Parts: sequence; C-alpha cells; structure tokens
Amino acid sequence: MATTAEHAAMRRAIALARSALGSTNPNPAVGAVVLDSDGAVAGEGRTQRAGDNHAEIEALDAAGERARGGVLVSTLEPCRHEGRTGACTEAIVRAGISRVVYAVGDPDPDAGGGAEELRAAGLDVEADVLADEALVDLAPWLLATRRRRPHVTWKYAATLDGRTAAADGTSRWITGPESRRDVHRLRAQSDAVLVGIGTVLADDTSLTVRDWPAPDLPAGRQPLRVVVDGKARTPLSSLILDDAAPTLVAVGAMADERRVKALADAGAEIVELPGPDGRVDLGALLAALFDRSARLLLVEGGARLASSFVRERLVDRIVGYHAPALLGAGPPVLADAGIPTIGAAVRLEICDVTQLGADVRITSEVR
Ligand SMILES: NC(=O)c1ccc[n+]([C@@H]2O[C@H](COP(=O)([O-])OP(=O)(O)OC[C@H]3O[C@@H](n4cnc5c(N)ncnc54)[C@H](OP(=O)(O)O)[C@@H]3O)[C@@H](O)[C@H]2O)c1
Repeated sequence: MATTAEHAAMRRAIALARSALGSTNPNPAVGAVVLDSDGAVAGEGRTQRAGDNHAEIEALDAAGERARGGVLVSTLEPCRHEGRTGACTEAIVRAGISRVVYAVGDPDPDAGGGAEELRAAGLDVEADVLADEALVDLAPWLLATRRRRPHVTWKYAATLDGRTAAADGTSRWITGPESRRDVHRLRAQSDAVLVGIGTVLADDTSLTVRDWPAPDLPAGRQPLRVVVDGKARTPLSSLILDDAAPTLVAVGAMADERRVKALADAGAEIVELPGPDGRVDLGALLAALFDRSARLLLVEGGARLASSFVRERLVDRIVGYHAPALLGAGPPVLADAGIPTIGAAVRLEICDVTQLGADVRITSEVR
C-alpha cells in the first residue's frame, strides 16, 4: 500500500508531467519524484525533449546521494530499454533506490517490462497508484502509440445555441478572455494545431501559443501549424506562414503546382495527400503527422473540417467553450457529419465541466 507521502509525491509527479505536455514528442510527458529514506522530497523531474533525459533520470540527478534507500515515484512505469538515453531501470538500481511506485504501465514492447526487471533486481515495486488521475494526460499518448496516429482533440467556441458566428459572418470574441486564454493552454499542450483553409481565409489566424505563460516550457517552443488546403489557396501573406512556428500545408490532387511551389518558397512544408473530390485524405494526414513525431493534435475547425473528422470517426476528445449568448442563425459548430438518424448519433462521455469567466468549458470523449 502506497503511503500518504507517496500519494502526495504522485500528485506532484502528475503536475510535473502536465507541465511537460506538448514538449516531449514523440515521448510521453512523465513526471517523477524521489523521496529520501525519511519520506522527504529529495528530487523532482519531468521528461525533457526527445533524446534528452527521462523524468526518472532528472529526479534521480536532483536527489543525488539522497536517493540511496529512497522511493522513486513516477507517473509511468520506468523504461527498461537503452534507446537514446539509457534504461531508467538501470539508473534506478545504480542510485540505490529501494522502492518504486508508478501509476500506469508502459505498453511499449521495447520500453515496457521495467517493473519486472526492477523486482528481479530486488526492489519493492507497486503499480496503479493514482492511475486514473495520471491517465487523464497519459491516455492520449497511449492511444496515439497504439493506433499509430495522433490523439485528436477538437476544440470549438460557440454560443449556447451552437453558433460560431452571426448571420452576417461576424464572429470575433464569441467567448470571453478566460476561454480564449485557455485555448492557448490547449495549443501549448499539443504537438500540432490544425485548421481548414476556410478558417485561414476567414480569420487569418496565426495559430501560435501567445497568451499562455507556460514558464516551465522550453522558451519559444511552438506546436507545428497545419493547414488542410486541398487546392493550395493559402494566401502568401497569411499570418500562418510567418516564422513564429513551422507550418505544414496538406494539399490534394487539384492543387495548382505554381501555388504549391510558392507556399514551399514561403517556408511551408507541403505534403500532397489526395482524398476524394480534390480534398485532403485526413487519415493519411494523421499518419504523416505521426511520422513527424506528433502524438497530440488539436483541431481548431472550422465546421466543415470538423465534420469530416467526425464523419471519419477521427475525433477522440472534444473541448467546447460555450458562451452565454444566443444567435439563432449563423454557421453551426458542426456541418453535416453524415449522421442520418438519432440512432447513429456520436455518443460522448462528459469528463469535465468548468466555468471560465462567463463561459462554460465542456470536455467530453468519444467512447
Ligand atoms: N468558433 C470556432 O470555434 C471556430 C473555429 C474555427 C473556425 N471558425 C469559423 O469557421 C469558418 C470557417 O469554417 P469553414 O467550415 O468554412 O471552413 P474550414 O472547416 O476551416 O475549412 C474547410 C475547407 O477545408 C478544405 N478541405 C480539404 N480537405 C478537407 C476534408 N477532408 N474535409 C473538409 N474540408 C477539407 C476544403 O476546401 P478546399 O476544397 O479548398 O480544400 C473545405 O472547404 C470561419 O468563419 C471561422 O471564423 C470558428
């Protein structure tokens, strides 16, 4: 049975892991805490950029000699494979840790199995400590690893009657400043952020992380920006092509070659992924993003693109910001998603409801 100090250390490890979200791809964001033999915190760590230290190594380094006879608490089972950074299990044994407590097992065939190795080395090991809390952030990475495509969160902002703009097309500031700031948190915690060309043309969005201090994140880190642009219509003057972050433009078979070249000359990476009707093949796009290390993808709309994601059952989590306003007309949050009858409705499970200023944020998952 985990002690009170170990539970507290796990809560801290979960917070450390959360602060690393979006900066560790393709690795999972993990947090770790070392308790000394008296149960006091001796060291903390979180996953660094790929190729750099895992959370356990950071925590062991910080603890130094105080790790001897102590407990290592980690949100994920320590890895046992060499990889680019050396096995965490070996470092744990070398540091003289006597007990390991972790939340979630590592399903990776190479990295997993660390718990058994530690037990074989004579350590006391306890699994599943606060696993449900750790899974809130780890489950998307686990799903991405299993399906070999990024976990997809679709985010929208709407009035209570589900409109994203007024009948005349005006849409600025539907939601309040707290919600808008929260969207920057979502971006910061994602590896890639994606919009349709309709949104680029209407809003000239820059899609960067701005209003989120994220003091713990490496300076200047921005998620990959992705435009789904079948005909390569992204204007060369678009903010999304500025040098604040890398940009990938996915085009279809009907994209004009000269426009594609101009976008590439403007610094965008171009991938041609022909789907039906000159559109972009979204499944192929997700595979391409996975190959580029993206595990957590944020889809920011608009309605037509979101409906394709829903139609193709490619949405895993939905974050809706609902403003206390009514419009009665104007574009809906979702276009036709190919659902003809109530029996075919995409059923969701609500995981969180939070009031942000005057708005309500509803987070749900597709089961
Ligand atoms: N409130 C919110 O949360 C929110 C968020 C974002 C946007 N918006 C608003 O939504 C509006 C834009 O939405 P929209 O529906 O017009 O455009 P959109 O969803 O941003 O982009 C749709 C376009 O993407 C291209 N596309 C390529 N492959 C596709 C595929 N597989 N599936 C779907 N689309 C594909 C198509 O253009 P091609 O045929 O040229 O490829 C399609 O017309 C704007 O007014 C914006 O302000 C609101």
